[in-house]
Formats: sequence, structure tokens, C-alpha cells
Amino acid sequence: MEVVIVPDAKAGGALIAGAMADLLRRTPDALLGVATGSTPLPVYEALAAQVRSGSVDTSRARIAQLDEYVGLPADHPESYRSVLRREVLEPLGIGMDAFMGPDGAAEDVRAACEAYDRALAEAGGVDLQLLGIGTDGHIGFNEQCSSLVSRTRIKTLTEQTRVDNARFFGGAVDQVPHHVITQGIGTILEARHLVLLATGEGKADAIAATVEGPVAAVCPASALQMHPHATVVVDEAAASKL
Ligand code: GLP
Repeated sequence: MEVVIVPDAKAGGALIAGAMADLLRRTPDALLGVATGSTPLPVYEALAAQVRSGSVDTSRARIAQLDEYVGLPADHPESYRSVLRREVLEPLGIGMDAFMGPDGAAEDVRAACEAYDRALAEAGGVDLQLLGIGTDGHIGFNEQCSSLVSRTRIKTLTEQTRVDNARFFGGAVDQVPHHVITQGIGTILEARHLVLLATGEGKADAIAATVEGPVAAVCPASALQMHPHATVVVDEAAASKL
């Protein structure tokens, strides 16, 4: 695992956007795995600036979703599909035809999970997966004590994660769905390059456990220690307990 400490979130965003741009120059149809949350926004902003300046071409790029709420219609403004369309696909000039994600509104959620896991493999696998991290060390929606070999599946959110995410639902915790679909940790580990970005002091404990703790299900992100090509990018505040 490579750990890169950057001065601030903007520098982290520029660094990761640079890695994504290099990948797209080498492999124009690369499959980029993207995450939601506030942390990755500087990455998307920096990459969008490169697209606008013409230094990177996204016309063949493909995007894969990490996780999704269960029960929100796909066009709900806070479904992760809608969020990614707004924050990633539109700014990068990538159409929905190049997007793949699980169907959070499916009647048979288990079948939707299995179908998405298979679709990722059939698409050739994710080339670079960008990850954020929860304050408790979760990645995607793999909450604490998720199996480190898990596949894409339905999960129940912890109260802490629902409280953390209530800000996207006008502060109303009761509006945050209880269930989600997430790529499993085993699924995530199949990406060729994992890049985790964490910024701010609130992530310092989770980063210490991820980087220096034992590989243990109590900190799902610690599974990155087992990956042959994992990069953890942290600002000084998130690195403060290393
Ligand atoms: C949610 C998402 C994760 C994200 C996490 C942290 O739980 N499912 O993918 O990493 O929030 O979000 P933020 O970056 O806003 O702290």
C-alpha cells in the first residue's frame, strides 16, 4: 500500500485526477469506478477542468458505480445514480450509455446485486476504483464487520452512516434509506488499482486503522492492505494519527 500525504483536499483531487487522466491516455475506454460523498468532489472538478482544456479525452471512458440506496427511484435527486450523473458524468462529458450501476429500485434486489457483480466482470473489470471512507472505516457501503471477501449484495446501514448521510436529505435522518446495494469488499479488491482519498480530521482514526491497523473486518478499508496496487491519498489532517 502506498500512502501519499498532500497538503489539502485540492492537492489530493489534482493528484488523483492526474492519475485518471494518465490512465485514459493509455486506455481510452478504461472503466473508472467512482464513489459518492463529498470527499471525491475535488477529483471530479480537477478532471473536468482537464476535459474542458482538451488535455484528456473521455469520449470512450466508462464509469461504474460503487453503491446505491435501495428503494429510491433512479431519478430521485439523491439516488447515487442521479448524484453521479450530476457530479461526474455531465461534468466529464460522459453519457449514461457508458455508465453501469446496480438497480436500487429492482423488485428482486438480490438478483440485481448478482447481475451487477457479473456485469462488472463481463465488462473486463474496473481499471481504477476511487474510494472514500466512512468515519468508521467503511468503503462503499460495506459497514464494519462486513466480510472481506464479500460480493455485491444488500446491506443495512448503521445508524451512524444514516446520520452522516442525512445532510444530503435536508438533515432528515428518517429520509435516509435503511438498505443499500454495495459492491462487496471482494468485488472492490478485483479492481486493478484502488485509490482511496480521505480528507479532514474526522477521518484520522479510520485512516490510522486502514493503514497501520490489522487487516480486520472491523475496519473494512484495511482490506486495501491485501491489494497489490492500492494508493491512499490523505491530507495532513486525515494523516494526523499515522
Ligand atoms: C457514504 C458512501 C461512501 C463514502 C462515504 C463517506 O457512506 N457510500 O462511498 O466514502 O459516504 O462520505 P464523505 O466523503 O462525504 O465523507
